[in-house]
This record gives sequence, C-alpha cells and structure tokens, in this order.
Amino acid sequence: EPINISDFEILAKEKLDKKAFDYYSSGADEEITLKENCNAFKRIFLKYRVLVDVSKRDLSTEILGHKISMPVIIAPTAFQKMANADGEVATAKAAGKAGNIMILSTLSNTSVEEVVKATSGPVWFQLYVFRDREITKELIKKAEAAGVKAIVLTVDAPLLGQRERDKRNKFNLPQGLEITNLSFVSKSNLIVKNDSGLAGYVTENLDPSLSWKDIDWLRSVTTLPIILKGIACKEDALLAVEYDIEGIVVSNHGGRQLDT
Ligand code: GLV
Repeated sequence: EPINISDFEILAKEKLDKKAFDYYSSGADEEITLKENCNAFKRIFLKYRVLVDVSKRDLSTEILGHKISMPVIIAPTAFQKMANADGEVATAKAAGKAGNIMILSTLSNTSVEEVVKATSGPVWFQLYVFRDREITKELIKKAEAAGVKAIVLTVDAPLLGQRERDKRNKFNLPQGLEITNLSFVSKSNLIVKNDSGLAGYVTENLDPSLSWKDIDWLRSVTTLPIILKGIACKEDALLAVEYDIEGIVVSNHGGRQLDT
C-alpha cells in the first residue's frame, strides 16, 4: 500500500510503460535542476512552537477569490491518460473532493469541458501559445465557454527542453490518445511530423517569439485573470506587476526546460 509520494513513484515505475514513466519523471539534459528541485525542498525546515491548542486545524486559504482547503494546488501536467484510463477526469474529481483547484494542461488527453464537469472545484487552464494566433484564441474561447476561472500562461517553453530520456525512447503519444483540446483544429493547420515526438510538435507549432508584448494581446482576447507560469527571477516578477498580471507561478517547469 503506498503511503507517501515516493511509494507512488516506485509503483508507477513498475506499472507504467517505460516511455510514459520516463516522460513524467524526466528533466532536461543532465537533470541537475530536476534533482536540485527535490533537494531544495529537503533543505526547508520550519520553526514550530509548542503548547498551543491544535485541536482544530485549518490549512484553508484564498487564492484569486477562491477558498481552497490548503495552500497547495494541482499544477498542470500533460497526457494523464498515459497513467490511467480516467486520466484528467480522475484528477479533477480528486481536486473537487479535496476542495482545491486543478490547473488543466493544454496538452491534456481529456477535453476542458469534460474536466470542468467532473469537478466541484474551480479549473484553471494552462495555455501554450501557438504560432497561429487564431488557434490560440479559439482554445481560450473554448476554455472560457467551458467555465475555467483563470488562464495560466506558460512562459518558459518557447522550445521544449532537451529531454534525453524522451529522445532515447522516441517518445510519442500512445495510439488512441490525443491532445483533445486541439481536436477542433484541422490537421492541416497543425504540423505533426511522424516520429518527431513532442519536442518536434512544440518546435513546429508553439510560438518561440512569444514576448511581453503578447501579454497585451492575451489581455485583449480574454477577461479572465492571467497568471504567468515559469517566472524564475525577480526582474521578471517585477515586469509581471507592471503588466498587471494577477499572479505568477515561480517555477522552472519541474527542471524540464533549461537545466541549471
Ligand atoms: C509539458 O509541459 C512538459 O513539460 O512535458
């Protein structure tokens, strides 16, 4: 019986196809940042006080107007059906049950409509910006119509990191799984080269020229709060304030983008 996160990881390694396990668990290049992310958490110790009444404990807090049960929310991760047939719907149900927020990836195997329906809690939508802004706009409209409460723009993925394990495994989505949120796009408008894998897909379709000026464009096409995911230094955090961004996610994309 798994009782902690490490136990789940051991089980996942046993149960999952190697390609899927490696995709979920790998980082960029030598995975120095990936390891350091875990080590950095291990270095955090909290000062505590004793002889205080803890018979009633409450971790709840508020974020962008949503009351949540704990100060931790579910980060967007792609392709959850590689792990389980219920995929993102299972995560959404769990988020709702835990009184928490799920951030759904653009690259999910379940549509945003289905995910919003599956949870009693709020869903935020992680956005990748496509070279074709019409596709991006359509995706945002679809997420808005489904009822998401915020747009979480990934700002650290103009290109996909060099994930050596994915390269070795020639990672591709397993047969039968799709990037469901993009099924409205006619195949001819997306470049999917056989066997070029996820890195190829991102390189061909996502916009590497994305910059601060596009924040104004994004603001012009949505009234939802905008959160920037992937801010990694003070200078960019301050720029986010200048652009009236509603929130930032301080993140190095799980060490999957730029190593060190
Ligand atoms: C997608 O965002 C990934 O990191 O694979």
